[in-house]
Amino acid sequence: MQEISWNEAIELGSPYPYALATTVDKDGRPNIIGLAWWTIVSGEPLMIAISVGHGRYSHECLGHCGEFVLCLPPEEHKEGAWLCGTTSGRKIDKFSKAGFQQVPAKVVAPPIIEGSTVAYECKVTNTLVTGDHTLFIGEVVAIHGSPERTRHLYTVHYRKVVSIDCKGHCNFAL
Ligand SMILES: Cc1cc2nc3c(=O)[nH]c(=O)nc-3n(C[C@H](O)[C@H](O)[C@H](O)COP(=O)(O)O)c2cc1C
Repeated sequence: MQEISWNEAIELGSPYPYALATTVDKDGRPNIIGLAWWTIVSGEPLMIAISVGHGRYSHECLGHCGEFVLCLPPEEHKEGAWLCGTTSGRKIDKFSKAGFQQVPAKVVAPPIIEGSTVAYECKVTNTLVTGDHTLFIGEVVAIHGSPERTRHLYTVHYRKVVSIDCKGHCNFAL
């Protein structure tokens, strides 16, 4: 083994599961952020943490609504999913730009992205400032899925995406 840079470590540790989190702003307008820094952090109760940069519009939205839906995008959503990770929703409507349909969530205010492989509705129960990001820790209050859409997205070095299905088969997506 040898000592390597963070940049090399990110490359070598790829791919990472790429998710989209929906929120709503103070006027109830939905937004979507692309996230590689997310993880399940508890099984009982089921909890998911997302790490959101302080400058992101989604950070502001989470401060207002305290809820999010973590959606795993299927391969069919690859272009829209990439747009959500590369443009801010401060001025644009990412649902319409990405061509995503909104489905009302069962418990929380942010909508579900129609056709997500899996969607976890979460209520924020705790936050932790971690350097330039905030960790929003959410308790899962409902789960939805599309069993016919098994092929979802992973990011390589946060620069491109591949899709891998739930049996582990890999395809280049973007
Ligand atoms: C592959 C990929 C992974 C990303 N992961 C994160 C992440 O984990 N946390 C984060 O704050 N931003 C992440 N981003 C950047 C945001 O998605 C991006 O800044 C987005 O435009 C923020 O949108 P908003 O301003 O509407 O919230 C990622 C972007 C890409 C392309």
